[in-house]
Parts: sequence; structure tokens; C-alpha cells
Amino acid sequence: MDVQKLFADRIGGAQFGKVQQTFKFTLINNAKLEFIEKNPTIKVIDMGVGEPEELPTTSIIESLFSAAQVKENRIYPCNGILEFAQAASRYLNRDFNLTVDPKTEVMHCVGTKTALAQIPLAFLNPGETVIATVPGYPVLPKASEWLGARLLSLPLEARHSFLPDLQELEAIIKRERPKILLLNYPNNPTGAVATFEFFARVVELAHTYSFLIVQDAAYADYVFKGAFVSPLHVNGGKDVTLELYSLSKSYNMQGYRLGFVAGGAPLIKAFSLVKDNTDNGQFIAIQKAGIHALDECQGFLKRNREKYQRRLRRVAEILNRAGIEAVESPGTFYLYVKVPSEFRGAEIKTAQQMADVLISRYGLITVPWEEAGPYLRFSMTFEVGTRDFGSENEVFQALESRLVGDLLA
Ligand SMILES: Cc1ncc(COP(=O)(O)O)c(C=O)c1O
Repeated sequence: MDVQKLFADRIGGAQFGKVQQTFKFTLINNAKLEFIEKNPTIKVIDMGVGEPEELPTTSIIESLFSAAQVKENRIYPCNGILEFAQAASRYLNRDFNLTVDPKTEVMHCVGTKTALAQIPLAFLNPGETVIATVPGYPVLPKASEWLGARLLSLPLEARHSFLPDLQELEAIIKRERPKILLLNYPNNPTGAVATFEFFARVVELAHTYSFLIVQDAAYADYVFKGAFVSPLHVNGGKDVTLELYSLSKSYNMQGYRLGFVAGGAPLIKAFSLVKDNTDNGQFIAIQKAGIHALDECQGFLKRNREKYQRRLRRVAEILNRAGIEAVESPGTFYLYVKVPSEFRGAEIKTAQQMADVLISRYGLITVPWEEAGPYLRFSMTFEVGTRDFGSENEVFQALESRLVGDLLA
């Protein structure tokens, strides 16, 4: 039997595995390994992957450990335990002044990545249209495409503070009649945050043109200028919005795989039906640890916030001194920096090219984005307290001497 005949067209059909595709993060890793081989004594500064670099609090780990020992917690959790939905609802109310009914307007998820892949199953028919901002987290667009949906990209540009231009958005919506509009604020990778006025208009458009807003709020806890706003703050927003929250970035629980979706009851019901048919829910002990995090770990979250904001400021300052124009992000833990057309005498055409220069010449890892012009993303989740870098200041000093001093040491 020819195994190639087994693969679905959506993953390449008979060509699956034959076409050599190199993913961005593989390229980054290869460049890192090459640098280490050539410069075994120089420490790599890793601002690549965006995931928290420290453990969650001891109390979160202890909650998990003790809940894991309770016999009742061993069962299939299916669509979750009410106590977690109640904790999620308390958190939304306490931190963002949002009101959601834990019984009908919140559903836990096995990480927001999984929920983003499940949502299209509940709302999209083949041929329907999804509008997604780019650059962006590609999971919902990919899942939609796999269902035979049509994908339209909306570039995020500096001149509109990395929000879709409302006039342009309305024209596209009027013409294309999407079923889903995917937004992500605070935004990965641009670091942008949205305004109430923006969401108010988007909610109005969703009512007028009948589409679902999927708002990925995985970085909701990282807003440094102004406050986090949501379509759920807008009158009527709940009727047209599913908003996703994650415990990964706020409480360093990315491996725990826990988040939740909030929105109008009929929308949550549709999501829950798909969820119930595709996963069995997150381990109850993890949900218990999540309840502890949401209820008790505001101090930890505050320290995380301060740490990433401090790092954003310091790294932006160093980049500016090095002649790479950087603006401190109002949200997330990413700096999104336009690639200069010329750097240290060399012409730079793509973000990949600039990322290669930074890794090969300075041992600095960043992530290139080309979707809306050449940009680099610097993640503030670099590790310290290791053999490489004992403290944050050592990272800043290394960055300064390499980028500003043009030294590799
Ligand atoms: C924008 C965005 N959404 C969702 C996720 C997924 O987070 P999780 O599945 O850990 O909740 C990420 C993770 O990097 C992200 O950057």
C-alpha cells in the first residue's frame, strides 16, 4: 500500500512530508546551534520563544500536588468543574470589572491554543470567511482553513497603532461578510493594546453584519498603559463575542494547559458541545491549581508585570542606543521592532536577514515577522539566574556591549 495516498489534502495529500518545509523556529534554532559551535565561550542571549521562564509559585505547585492525591479528582473532567468557572468569573470581575455567569458564560479549556482550534468547528461552514489580523497567532486561521473556510488577512500597521483601521475594516466586512473576526489584544507580536472605542465599533459592526468576534486575550494581564479592555465591556458585546483567557502567561502555567473562554451563553454552549466531543477536559487537580492562581496569586502576577515592563524599558533603551528604533510596548512581554533598511553598513531587506545578523554577529536570538513589513520580535522572557546570566543586569550589560559597543564578548 502506498502510505502517501492516506494523507488528507488539507495537510498536503500525497505530497505530505515530501516537500521540505523549514519552519521559522527551526531556522532560529539552527542558527543558534551554529553560533554556539563557532563561539563556544560566548553566551547566547535568547529573546526568541515567548514563554514564561520561571516556575509558577510554590503554592500553585503545592495545590496541584495535594489535589492530585484526592481520589475524586481522578475522573474525566469533561466540561470542567463549576468551582473553576466560578474562580474565572471572580477574576474577570475583580480585575476587569466584567460580569459573567459561571454556569453559562464561562467554559474552561485545555489551553487557549486548543480552544482556538475548536471554535471554528462550532461556527464555520465550508466556504465561509474568517478575517484575522496579521502578524498573529496562526492556530484559528489554520483550523478554519482546514474546515474549508476562506481566510482574509488584515495587516496591523504602526500608523494605526497596530489596530485594524476601522474604516478599512468596515469596508472589508461589508464586502466579504465574514463569519468570524479574530482579534488578539494585547497583541502578540506587536505588543499593542486595544481601546474601548475600537471594541465598541467592532461590536456594533458584529451586530450589523452578523459575525462572531473571537478575541484572544491570552495577554490580558499584561497591559502597562491604560487598562485592559474587552468587547465584553461593550453593551451587547457578550452576544457576539467569545473571549479567550489563559493562565499560561500570567501565572507561568504554560505546561499545565489551562485557560477559559467567556462570552454569551449560546456561544459558550456551542463551543462546549465541540469541546465535549474533542477533549475530556483538563485534569481536576490542574483546575484546582488554577483556582488557587486566580484567587490567591495577585502578588506573583504583579511581580511578573513589573519584571516584564522593566525589561521592555531597558531593552528598548539599549536598542535605541544601538540605532535600532524601538518603542516600549504598551502590553504583552514583546518588543516589536521595525527592521532598519541598513544596519552596520549592510543593506537589510527582510526580517529573517536581520535576525540572522543579530544571531551570527552578536549571539542574540529574536523572531522575524514579515507579514506586515519586516519586523523583529524580542521576547522579555529570557532566563536569568543560570550559569549563563546570573542576573537581569548581566543580560542588559551583554546586550549593551554587543549591540551598542559592537563587541562580541
Ligand atoms: C496570542 C496567543 N494566543 C494563544 C496562545 C496559547 O496559549 P495557551 O494555549 O498556553 O493558553 C499563545 C501562546 O503563545 C499566544 O501567544
